[in-house]
Amino acid sequence: MGQLSALMQVMTGAARKAGRKLNRDFGEVENLQISRKGPADFVTAADRKAEEVLHEALAEARPGYGFLMEESGEIAGSDKSHRWIVDPLDGTTNFMHGQPHFAISIALEREGELVAGVIYNPATDDLFHAEKGRGAWLNERRLRVAARKDLAACVVATGIPFHGRPGHARFLTELHRVMGKVAGVRRYGAAALDLAWVAAGRFDGFWERGLKAWDIAAGMVLVREAGGFIAELDGGKDVLSTGAIAAGNEHVLPQLVELVKDAG
Ligand code: IPD
Ligand code: CA
Ligand code: CA
Repeated sequence: MGQLSALMQVMTGAARKAGRKLNRDFGEVENLQISRKGPADFVTAADRKAEEVLHEALAEARPGYGFLMEESGEIAGSDKSHRWIVDPLDGTTNFMHGQPHFAISIALEREGELVAGVIYNPATDDLFHAEKGRGAWLNERRLRVAARKDLAACVVATGIPFHGRPGHARFLTELHRVMGKVAGVRRYGAAALDLAWVAAGRFDGFWERGLKAWDIAAGMVLVREAGGFIAELDGGKDVLSTGAIAAGNEHVLPQLVELVKDAG
């Protein structure tokens, strides 16, 4: 990889800064496991603080850009053509349970188009980054989606709807259809990393419903720049607003969509 672009320096710098904070808090969370109340309040505070760090760093580097952030919502900017889409902590349940699979996700939208994405897991120091037209990278290594064509050889990731969310019955139908056709299904608990791992060829595909723009925006750039494709599960155009997403290479993606669509 050559020199990081100015934009990528801003995005990765912000992610690393917030990542240092999250990592310190993660160490603390591991100690809190044994307390009866558990670390829930502490994690909520860590999440908010990480968002503040990201907001501050990005706003300082690019004054005027708007924001869409999980905790603070939409913050309009004076520059109407740019918007950051930020999840300060994706994989909160993992984080809370001392599992080192969580990430900061930052995407940049320009004139309504996703043009850059960074997904950073500070616990493993995996920094995934991609910019439209410049490829997708894991740290210094160029990424390419897996080349498998045959579903029977594929490992695919998904997300299981949490307690209190809709779609449990439909998910079971989808899982039932997919598990009979693939080599394995994984549920690791961080949608941003699921997409980054598709970009890295670690997963052959991914599907999930009910996601938010901040869960998937950066990962969509990564998958596309790694030569993969994104689909909206119900045939709609705007996956960022419906949150019903599938990802994979040109062979796997249509087969996956065919299996899970119309499941309920
Ligand atoms: C969650 C994770 C999870 C997905 C959930 C998301 P959060 O984000 O991405 O993998 O299944 O739907 O809400 O709450 O950890 O930021
Ligand atoms: Ca999330
Ligand atoms: Ca989150």
